[in-house]
Amino acid sequence: MHHFDYIRGTLYAEGVAISEIAKDVGTPFYCYSSATLERHYNVFKGPFPQDTLVCYSVKANSNTSVIATLARLGAGADIVSVGELRRALKAGVPPERIVFSGVGKQPEELAEALDVGIYQFNVESEAELQTLSDIAVQKGVTAPIALRVNPDVDAKTLAKISTGRSENKFGIPWAQAEAVYDLAGRLPGIDVVGLDVHIGSQITELAPFESAFLKVVEMVTRLRARGHNISRIDLGGGLGIPYQTGNTPPPHPDEYAALINRIVGDLETQIIFEPGRLIAGNAGILVSKVVYTKDTGTRSFLILDAAMNDLIRPALYDAHHDIIPVMQPQAGYAPTIYDVVGPVCESTDTFARARQLPDMAPGDLVAFLSAGAYGAVQAGTYNTRPLVPEVLVCGGRYSVVRPRPSLDALLALDVVAPWLEETAK
Ligand code: LLP
Repeated sequence: MHHFDYIRGTLYAEGVAISEIAKDVGTPFYCYSSATLERHYNVFKGPFPQDTLVCYSVKANSNTSVIATLARLGAGADIVSVGELRRALKAGVPPERIVFSGVGKQPEELAEALDVGIYQFNVESEAELQTLSDIAVQKGVTAPIALRVNPDVDAKTLAKISTGRSENKFGIPWAQAEAVYDLAGRLPGIDVVGLDVHIGSQITELAPFESAFLKVVEMVTRLRARGHNISRIDLGGGLGIPYQTGNTPPPHPDEYAALINRIVGDLETQIIFEPGRLIAGNAGILVSKVVYTKDTGTRSFLILDAAMNDLIRPALYDAHHDIIPVMQPQAGYAPTIYDVVGPVCESTDTFARARQLPDMAPGDLVAFLSAGAYGAVQAGTYNTRPLVPEVLVCGGRYSVVRPRPSLDALLALDVVAPWLEETAK
């Protein structure tokens, strides 16, 4: 459910016409809906006990205004770098609602998070545990930790975004978990508070969650029997979203919640979640303009001004994004079959093959749906294309929450080596 709808024949984000933003900001641009972000947070959080902490996974969309929109509702933040830590704090997430995930947290990052006093470190290896303990001891504090354990379940999602199998780099192997908890219990800088698990992303069935969470219950029982304090369980993120109209949608958050309340409800722990895509995915679109159309005899290409550097998911994961025209097509229109591509010099710069769209002409606008998560954050400047601006809509208002950088600003990032100065002039 989102707030991007046709009104009087043209696409709106809440109360603002997309074509109006395009005139003002130029294309391409990302556009986010505050009401959709808020709705997703509330729908997700609703069925869980009051003290449940929903730490929005900032990596999905780390625009400060997006994080701030959620922080105002009480959301915490799941971060994976000191950059994300600073963003979350800047957006108004209190440290006591921040959890720090990731396999390669560096000593300086751990130190800064300790200074800030975050809620929990999700530790992914024995080496990280030792490092964290040493830093905490130097600072005269203890670090609240959960160990991220790898339950070795198949999340049945795209192989490239699965994380919960034993062959993945994530988490502590299931068989080693108790020994590492015992070590954590002995380390002077460590305070064991919980257990953490995250099995993958864009998960579209409940069964993998069920297998993983049943294993979590078993592990919590065993750890408690060994004397460990497990007062929180962090169940990660990963619940999928509908990407393709006409396909069976993934389980509703209410079904996910019912499963969790049934499986872990009696554990007497606080529950933490790290949803990213579920909150931001369908709260954002990428708007792009048709540059040219080209008919090669065998195919019709729709050449857009957005490219794989702006939205890399189709190129990287073969991911599907619905593409719709900003001007609503007439009912029963005769579709044209387009391959939708960008201007970047690679064949991979193909957003979709054989898509049905109305006949399009240069200057027409299209919108990629479900682009709010892992869209702008994964953008780059390949082909010397500046990062795409981001716009946040709230009711009838909108604000450019990240302006389009100028080409000069992009070029100014490079420094000419001194020995080339002469020739450069
Ligand atoms: N927690 C941890 C430890 C994670 O690694 C992730 C995502 C999340 C939470 C949030 O998962 P979500 O609720 O968004 O599924 N770039 C890929 C997705 C990568 C996911 C990485 N980890 C994509 O565009 O599909």
